[in-house]
Amino acid sequence: DWTSEAFADSMIAELKEQLGNDKVVLGLSGGVDSSVAAMLIHHAIGKNLYCIFVDNGLLRKNEFEEVLESYKHMGLNVKGVDAKDQFYKALAGVSDPEGKRKEIGKTFIEVFDQEAHAIKDVKWLAQGTIYPDIIESVSVKGPSATIKSHHNVGGLPEKMNLKVVEPLKTLFKDGVRSVGKALEIDQKILGRHPFPGPGLAIRILGDVTPEKVHIIQEVDAIFIGMMKERGLYDDVWQAGSILLPIQSVGVMGDERTYERVVALRAVASVDGMTADWVHLPYEFLSDVSNEIINKVKGVNRVVYDISSKPPATIEWE
Ligand code: XMP
Repeated sequence: DWTSEAFADSMIAELKEQLGNDKVVLGLSGGVDSSVAAMLIHHAIGKNLYCIFVDNGLLRKNEFEEVLESYKHMGLNVKGVDAKDQFYKALAGVSDPEGKRKEIGKTFIEVFDQEAHAIKDVKWLAQGTIYPDIIESVSVKGPSATIKSHHNVGGLPEKMNLKVVEPLKTLFKDGVRSVGKALEIDQKILGRHPFPGPGLAIRILGDVTPEKVHIIQEVDAIFIGMMKERGLYDDVWQAGSILLPIQSVGVMGDERTYERVVALRAVASVDGMTADWVHLPYEFLSDVSNEIINKVKGVNRVVYDISSKPPATIEWE
C-alpha cells in the first residue's frame, strides 16, 4: 500500500541509480511541484542538482526574494536569475492570451537555455511534471487545441539535447503535497496555492506593462495577505486578482475619478479541472475592497467573480 514515505524512499533510490554522478538542471518556479521534484533529486544527488529560479517579473509581490531564500534554506544549489526586462520586452504589445503564453514560454526557454549551457556537462533536465499536466498537454495537441498550453511541458529537452527526468509524473497534486511533507519541506511552500507558469501576465487582461504588473501585485498582496490574516487562505484552493482592461467612474472627495477595475477570484477545487467559486464572507470582501481602493493608486472599483468552472475557467485568460 502507498505511503508518501515509501514513495519518497524508493524514488530517491531509483533516482540515485538512474542519475549516478550525472549533472541535472531543474527550473524552480516557487510552486509545490518543482520544489518537491527538486528535493527528491537533491536527496538523491545533492550538489549535482543545479536549480535555476527565474524572475520573469510576473510573480507575486516579493515572491522571488522570499522563495529564493527558502530554497537556500532547504540546502538546494540554486541560482536566481533576474530576467524581468527580457520578459517585459517580449510581452510588449501582446494582448492575446495564447500569444502571451507563447512569448513567455519562448523567453523562459531562452533564459533557461543560456543558464543551463553555463553548467558544464549537464546531462539531464528535471521537471516537476505531474500526472494531470500530461493529460492536459496531450489534449493541447489534439485537434480542438482549445486547452491552454502549459509551458512547463515539452520543447526544452530536444533543443538542449538533454534526457528528461520527471519524478512526480505518476502523482496528483495531493500526492505531491504529501511526499513534500514526508521530505519535511516548509509548509509555506507546500501549502501555497497553485500559480500559473505565465503568472500575472494572464491576470492582466490586454497587454502587459511593468506599471500594470505593479498595480496587480499590490492588489493581490492585499487580497492574499488578508486571506492569510483571517485564516481563510488554507480553505481556498486557489485565489488571485485580475486587472481588467477597462476604467470606471468613481468619486473621491469632490472629484470624479476614472480609474481601473480589478476582479478578485477564489475557488474550491480538487485538481483544477472543475472549480466552484468560494463564498468568502461579505465582511471580508468588504474590508479587502476598502483596503485595495484606499491603498492602491489607480484602482477605484473591486468586483468579485462568482462563476464556476465549467463553463468559466479559473483564470480569465
Ligand atoms: P483554468 O484557467 O484553465 O486553470 O481553469 C486551471 C489551472 O491551471 C492553471 N493554469 C496554468 N498553469 N500554465 C500553467 O502552468 C498556464 O498557461 C496555465 N493556465 C492556467 C490555473 O492557474 C489553474 O490552477
